[in-house]
Amino acid sequence: MRCGSDDGGGMATHGTVTGEDLDADQDRDPVVVSVAVYSDGADDYAATHAPKMTDRVERFAGWLPRPSLILDAGCGPGRDLARFRAYGHVVRGVDLNPVFVAMARAHAPTSQCDLREVGARFPAGTFDGIWASASLVHLAEAETVDVLGQFAGLLRPGGRLYVCLKAAGRTGWLDEPDGRRWYTVWGQDEFTAAVTEAGFEVDCVDPGPYVEVWATRRG
Ligand SMILES: C[S@@+](CC[C@H](N)C(=O)[O-])C[C@H]1O[C@@H](n2cnc3c(N)ncnc32)[C@H](O)[C@@H]1O
Repeated sequence: MRCGSDDGGGMATHGTVTGEDLDADQDRDPVVVSVAVYSDGADDYAATHAPKMTDRVERFAGWLPRPSLILDAGCGPGRDLARFRAYGHVVRGVDLNPVFVAMARAHAPTSQCDLREVGARFPAGTFDGIWASASLVHLAEAETVDVLGQFAGLLRPGGRLYVCLKAAGRTGWLDEPDGRRWYTVWGQDEFTAAVTEAGFEVDCVDPGPYVEVWATRRG
């Protein structure tokens, strides 16, 4: 497939990392802490991010036969659920944040689920496509590797995956205007290798502050 531009898809880039690693937050699950931060500003998040990723969604929608069953893994308020539906696909959403889950349900069936356990939520081989837009960013490296394996299990052979995560800055806690979140930063080659090892053929890698990988389930 044709690779896209490296402008990061209009995704947010983040400011300076602050705070020491020896912090109270260290004692808590960084994923749970980070996901909870989205709750208070959920409406603002939806409005701010509403115009983004249109070209990526169009590209992924056109990469799959219509209609396909797509899982939006970490769907947030459901922007892309609505878009994939508009392209004639059938969509399901999962997210850990309950406020986002409630918002996403306006667009498609969505359940509250930790992506670290998503493989147990649906039968193997259920989906034709999995869309994971900036949703693995708060997971530790080993957790991400495990979730990629779960994605492979949920896709039918030949199913498609889009996944993007942070490739600029440094791994650690980041103080943002709405709260403190953990981000794991990946090297492009390292992440591409992880996707391959999870059971995918990598079709395309778009570099940028968020590395974007387009891949096909082997088998
Ligand atoms: C940066 S937002 C991206 C949201 C949406 N995919 C988008 O592109 O706008 C990260 C999303 O991933 C969700 N998320 C992060 N870690 C998760 C996990 N372990 N399980 C489920 N959802 C998770 C967050 O709740 C949030 O909705």
